Amino acid sequence: MNIDRFAPWYRWVEYAAFGHALEARRFAFLDRLANARRILVLGEGDGRALEKLLLLAPNALVDVQELSERMISLARRRVGDSHRVSFRQADALTSKWPDSQYDGVVTLFFLDCFSESEARELVGRIARAMVPGSIWLVSDFAVPPRGWRCWHAKAWTWSMYRFFNIATALKTRSLPPIEKLLTEAGLRRLELEEARGGLIRSEVWIKQSIM
Ligand SMILES: C[S@@+](CC[C@H](N)C(=O)[O-])C[C@H]1O[C@@H](n2cnc3c(N)ncnc32)[C@H](O)[C@@H]1O
Repeated sequence: MNIDRFAPWYRWVEYAAFGHALEARRFAFLDRLANARRILVLGEGDGRALEKLLLLAPNALVDVQELSERMISLARRRVGDSHRVSFRQADALTSKWPDSQYDGVVTLFFLDCFSESEARELVGRIARAMVPGSIWLVSDFAVPPRGWRCWHAKAWTWSMYRFFNIATALKTRSLPPIEKLLTEAGLRRLELEEARGGLIRSEVWIKQSIM
């Protein structure tokens, strides 16, 4: 995926397609990290969530890892110079993090960039970097199991993947099973909010102490 060319338009295309619905999902549970000390944010994008997170988690040091140079510069511009944020332009698929390093992880509309096998490996690696008992905030798209909600979500996700396949050369063409992968990695869901007929979800997951 290369979102650089599209980065300045990303926010406006999102507002045109979803209004402020994605924004609401992005911000839904950020306050659950209020007491965090060390947070890993993967695929932050243009800094909208980061800006809020820095206010809501005043004692946290935040490591932001993002593939796109352009997104990093938009995020830097938004949050200004802060000794609490460290930006790293790197591919999460090939990054290593020390075990038990973070007491908070944030992935917002990020895990949908990967195939099931990529996401499984990545989720496992992120989970190992979390302290037991720590929180992972996930917001992403989902397809409900049946009924009109299922067809509605299938139509939206199909269109979005086609758009991103063209605009950013994203290779993935369907959602990985995020719930299953986090559960397999030893996390348990604490909270869930849905919007747009179950198409968009915000979730709070905890890394269980005994794995
Ligand atoms: C769909 S955008 C979501 C951005 C933002 N988190 C949001 O809520 O809108 C996915 C972001 O993840 C980044 N990304 C995609 N693959 C990545 C990878 N392998 N490593 C790090 N960042 C990646 C992209 O550059 C992009 O900024």
